[in-house]
Amino acid sequence: MADLYTVSDLRLGLPDMTRKPLFGAAPRIGILHGLSFSVPKGEVLGIVGGSGSGKSTLGRVLVRLLEPTGGRVLFDGQDISHLPEDRLRPLRRRFQMIFQDPMSSLNPRRRIGGIIAAPLQLHGFDRISARVDEALDHVGLPRAFRHRFPHELSGGQRQRVGIARAIAMRPDFILADEIVSGLDVSSQAQVLALLAELVRDLGLTLAFISHDLSVVRRLCTSTMVLHQGRIVEHRPTDALFAAPEADYTRELLDAIPLPDPDQRWDLAAG
Ligand SMILES: Nc1ncnc2c1ncn2[C@@H]1O[C@H](COP(=O)(O)OP(=O)(O)O)[C@@H](O)[C@H]1O
Ligand SMILES: [Mg+2]
Repeated sequence: MADLYTVSDLRLGLPDMTRKPLFGAAPRIGILHGLSFSVPKGEVLGIVGGSGSGKSTLGRVLVRLLEPTGGRVLFDGQDISHLPEDRLRPLRRRFQMIFQDPMSSLNPRRRIGGIIAAPLQLHGFDRISARVDEALDHVGLPRAFRHRFPHELSGGQRQRVGIARAIAMRPDFILADEIVSGLDVSSQAQVLALLAELVRDLGLTLAFISHDLSVVRRLCTSTMVLHQGRIVEHRPTDALFAAPEADYTRELLDAIPLPDPDQRWDLAAG
């Protein structure tokens, strides 16, 4: 299948403000060091690695919240690595992000309907009210929830609103960065099962960043392991978990508490 993303020699440095001279630019610290990989359409890519390994930074480059300092990022064949904001604008609908903490990413003063509608309005969609209803249906929330405020919802319900807001845009790609980290185990399972179902039914491509390898094993078709801004291993999930090639991957796997390979959300079934 065709690639949605083709990334080559991606590098990113950020200014080190602690070493900025009085005059002139701050020296850069390398965060990502020459990453090359592709993401086929329909893939669920897990991105794992220790804290500070560059997972969120990589994600932010894929949805162009950050501009890389080197290399190329092709999205559906188009190099987006240095596109200016006005040229990115029409593409922004196509890559959406779901955030870790829905409480801080949902405007507390807006009702759920307004929250889901806002990006649709920004991108000039028609039939906005119907699209909001559809999105709520997709994530299994009652349509009447459009009148509620974020604080009236549970953590799991708020995360569903974040997902509804993203899928209402009919994106090709969704980046989910540690989206279930703040939830209890049963809400986690429900949100992940929902995500797997939506990926399958809506033909989405998903990048799922997580420090929880047992979740990645159950959800993702391929897994990329990052360490200090470099890819140490990137292979089909089953193969990687069955026989890790890199020492660092083995260390990460050894740290998983009792993985249960029989329990998985099957993306192919249904
Ligand atoms: N805005 C920033 N300025 C300077 N350094 C940053 C910034 N954001 C992230 N970093 C550094 O980049 C590295 C990777 O961070 P991050 O991508 O957030 O890692 P992860 O998501 O894997 O925990 C870390 O060393 C972090 O300290
Ligand atoms: Mg992170």
